[in-house]
Amino acid sequence: MIALGADHAGYELKELIKKHLQEKGIQVEDMGTYSTDSVDYPDYAYPVAKKVAAGQAEYGILCCGTGIGISIAANKVKGIRAALCADEFSAEMTRRHNDANILCMGGRVIKAELALKLVDIFLNTPFEGDKHLRRINKIAEIENGTYDK
Ligand code: RB5
Repeated sequence: MIALGADHAGYELKELIKKHLQEKGIQVEDMGTYSTDSVDYPDYAYPVAKKVAAGQAEYGILCCGTGIGISIAANKVKGIRAALCADEFSAEMTRRHNDANILCMGGRVIKAELALKLVDIFLNTPFEGDKHLRRINKIAEIENGTYDK
C-alpha cells in the first residue's frame, strides 16, 4: 500500500498520482487533502510519515507547492527518509543509495508526465544496501542521538 498526502498546492498532482497508481492496480491510501482549499502541509506530511514509519505503508508520496515544506515536515518523523525529486536520476538514486521511503514532489514545479515517471521509478527501484546501509545507519544514529564522531 502506498500512502498519499498533499496540501492544496499539491492536491491536483496527488490526484493524478492516485489515478495513475490505481490504474496499475496498486493499493493507495489517500490521507488528504481533498480539495484546493488552503491547508497546512505538516498536517498531511505527518500522518503519511507515521504510516510509513509504522510499516503500515510500503512507501509514501507527498506533494506540496515546491515539495520542500512537506519533505522537511516528513523528515522530522523518526525512520523517515523523504526525498524531494524533480528528475529521473534523483528518483532512482534516492532509492538505490538512500533507501528513501517517501517521494516528495512540487505540484508547482514538476510537469505531471514527469512526476508520474518519477513515481514509477521510485516504486520500482531497489535499495543497493552495502556501504549505503552503513550511511543510512549513521543517519539513524543522528536521529537517535547516538552518533558520535
Ligand atoms: C503553499 O502556498 C506552499 O507554501 C506550500 O505548498 C509549499 O510549497 C511549502 O513548501
